[in-house]
Amino acid sequence: MAVGVTAGNMHEIKEAPMASVMKTTPGAKQAAGAQYLYQAGFGNEHSSEALSGALPVGRFSPQKCPYGLYAEKFSSTAFTVPRAGNRRTWFYRIRPSAAQGDFRPMDDGLLRSGPVTEVNAPPNQLRWDAFPIPAAPADFVQGLVTLAANGNVATQQGIGIHIYMANRSMDGRYFYNADGELLLVPQQGRLTVFTECGALQAAPGEILIIPRGMKFRVDLPDGPSRGYICENYGAAFILPERGPVGSDGYANNRDFLAPAARYEDQAGEFELMCKFGGHLYAAELKYSPLDVVAWVGNSVPYKYDLARFNVMNTVSYDHPDPSIFTVLTSPSDTAGVANVDFVIFPPRWMVAENTFRPPWYHRNVMSEFMGLIYGFYDAKPEGFVPGGASLHNCMSAHGPDRDAFDKGSGAALEPVRMEDTMAFMFESRYVIHPTRFALECPQRQKDYLLCWQGLESNFTGRP
Ligand SMILES: [Fe+2]
Repeated sequence: MAVGVTAGNMHEIKEAPMASVMKTTPGAKQAAGAQYLYQAGFGNEHSSEALSGALPVGRFSPQKCPYGLYAEKFSSTAFTVPRAGNRRTWFYRIRPSAAQGDFRPMDDGLLRSGPVTEVNAPPNQLRWDAFPIPAAPADFVQGLVTLAANGNVATQQGIGIHIYMANRSMDGRYFYNADGELLLVPQQGRLTVFTECGALQAAPGEILIIPRGMKFRVDLPDGPSRGYICENYGAAFILPERGPVGSDGYANNRDFLAPAARYEDQAGEFELMCKFGGHLYAAELKYSPLDVVAWVGNSVPYKYDLARFNVMNTVSYDHPDPSIFTVLTSPSDTAGVANVDFVIFPPRWMVAENTFRPPWYHRNVMSEFMGLIYGFYDAKPEGFVPGGASLHNCMSAHGPDRDAFDKGSGAALEPVRMEDTMAFMFESRYVIHPTRFALECPQRQKDYLLCWQGLESNFTGRP
């Protein structure tokens, strides 16, 4: 049994020290003081090797790979996608993934995929309290609950929106999702994610993206943990264009961190689960599937600290469209109309003159799902809580509640620093269809509509 961690890549970034002992699988430990190693950049051709010389030089598929490894290509885009958008990674691993075993159906639990047909989607505004982490043992996969989905998982359009509520690590269990890329938004507790490319750790306030099909397992170093997931059935997330803003700003490429190679050469009883075609399956394995000793490519898991977002906003008047806060976008076939945008509402200065500064009242052809990582949200100081959620679907009107309207209309327009806030939005071109669970669970705030009922006519008949 061995656990290998790379050392010696010039581009690696060392973060905070790992917990003194990192459990990999029962019985395996990593040396005290070891650190997570990252490579910086977005969409780069990264490379990493956990053993010196494991990465073939000058070709991807030599007749015999160093160390007796198997070469395996991981294609995340069609072979013929133009070079700028093409994503693939070459793995050099102890066993090829083709030897992964016989998948058998699992119980899907509360996991759903688009299209959701079990209930109709109401046009009403929807909101939920924080979802409680269960007391019964649940790892990351067992703790998945789908709140909504849209598009169609089979045609690779749309998204699934899930909450994970887990209280134990995935010991001996691994997972991959053939249905989409996973954008993880931790809200409570850190996630340590061991992938085929290496290990990453993300705390609340960071996001972590796992490519479609990549195998991983999740440890919970802080115990009970909760967060949001955007399962992106469509094109992989990219950084949005900056237009006249220029060559820097918004999310900068240098702040995206990919892991360094790390492998597990372990025999035992393991389980590889997958989600395929909207359903869960599991196969038994006699070895760890995280056995990649070296890799090169640009389809990688990565993480990003939302505090690094370079916030742009008005310095004159009016509240710009929230698209100005887009961190990542999954484009659709129509330019400017996203399969899904990931948008944040981070701490920032508010300086607009003669302007109603909270978000304006709005009806939108795009559908908006929101969550709160910490703090408060200025349009809804009450009722929209960390770990909760809201959904304002296509053309479902929304905006500030009565209190927020009154405060926004009467506030002194001095520069104000918004602190203690990190809300986010998954905004999609397709109607976001809630699941039966989402509509019937006790966390749904059935009185949410009332927050606008106090808005009376202020019409005077005079200018
Ligand atoms: Fe909106």
